Amino acid sequence: MITVAGFNTAIDRLYTLDALEPGAVQRAANVQAYPGGKGLHVAQTIAALGEPVQLVGLTDVFHRNLIARRMSERGVLFHGVEIAGELRHCLALRERDGRMTEVLDPGPLLPPRAQQQLLDTLWRCVEDTDAMVLSGSLPRGFEADTYAALLRQIAPRGLPCLVDASGEALRLAADAGAFLLKPNRDEAAQLAGRAVDTVEDAAVVARALHARGVAFPVITLGARGALGFDGADCWHASLAIAHSANAVGSGDCFLAGAAVALRRGGEPAQALRLGVACGAANALHEETGYVQRAQVDALLAEVRLVRFDG
Ligand SMILES: Nc1ncnc2c1ncn2[C@@H]1O[C@H](COP(=O)(O)OP(=O)(O)OP(=O)(O)O)[C@@H](O)[C@H]1O
Ligand SMILES: [Mg+2]
Repeated sequence: MITVAGFNTAIDRLYTLDALEPGAVQRAANVQAYPGGKGLHVAQTIAALGEPVQLVGLTDVFHRNLIARRMSERGVLFHGVEIAGELRHCLALRERDGRMTEVLDPGPLLPPRAQQQLLDTLWRCVEDTDAMVLSGSLPRGFEADTYAALLRQIAPRGLPCLVDASGEALRLAADAGAFLLKPNRDEAAQLAGRAVDTVEDAAVVARALHARGVAFPVITLGARGALGFDGADCWHASLAIAHSANAVGSGDCFLAGAAVALRRGGEPAQALRLGVACGAANALHEETGYVQRAQVDALLAEVRLVRFDG
């Protein structure tokens, strides 16, 4: 079983507009709402790949049925901690030319009791877990070192932990013994305090993260694939797709693919390969943070995996 700590569940709303005009009243051609959040994306992608997965995250009275139904349809065992207020809402505005504007809600401020309930629920899941994924922003109220503290508690049990965080939570997690840490280009640049424009730059940052104790640091580079360093070699995996419909959530799908490959006993380079296939599969269709298994299988054969000497 893979366990995903994806605490900050969101309700995503996608508005399709002709063209966004700031300051004007506009009518959306189409509006869709569905449960989201990075951890939820990771969990449903792991399930789509056929691996058992459970997700620990927030829910609320207004959306608990929507989330429970969606997670059950997708094959995710969802352990929801219900809050008194409302979950955060994330707004995506998509224009006819494909341009996306996202507006992210800061989300509820969690009282200490709800924070403890999330952590207690996660600990109850640890017993039957083979790999742990810590993904996304922490709800407001949590300390920035929450992921780092979890890593220090979990990693000594021999449980591989994969982490996708940003800002301070990422910086602190980088020194706490993650197996796989997955910043994207911008997050890596902020973390390393240097530009990450090329695969060479990514290799420098990955090597530095390895020196800080991350077994398999990976920098994802959008359409240019991903670079990982396994302690011996740098690997670059990439895959060109004809048209990207919506690449938001590709990092979440990447992480899901990597977790599945590692749980199946794959080497880090194979985790990179399946991750890249999943990231690309997500970009092929409109829905954020989800893949079709048949598309992943087809894309996997197309991934170009090379040892990178730069
Ligand atoms: N346009 C694309 N074409 C092919 N593959 C893509 C494309 N965009 C992303 N990918 C794949 O998905 C992986 C993750 O993408 P990216 O680096 O954009 O993650 P991210 O910024 O963390 O995304 P998010 O946080 O929205 O989930 C990339 O390493 C790449 O393999
Ligand atoms: Mg990301």
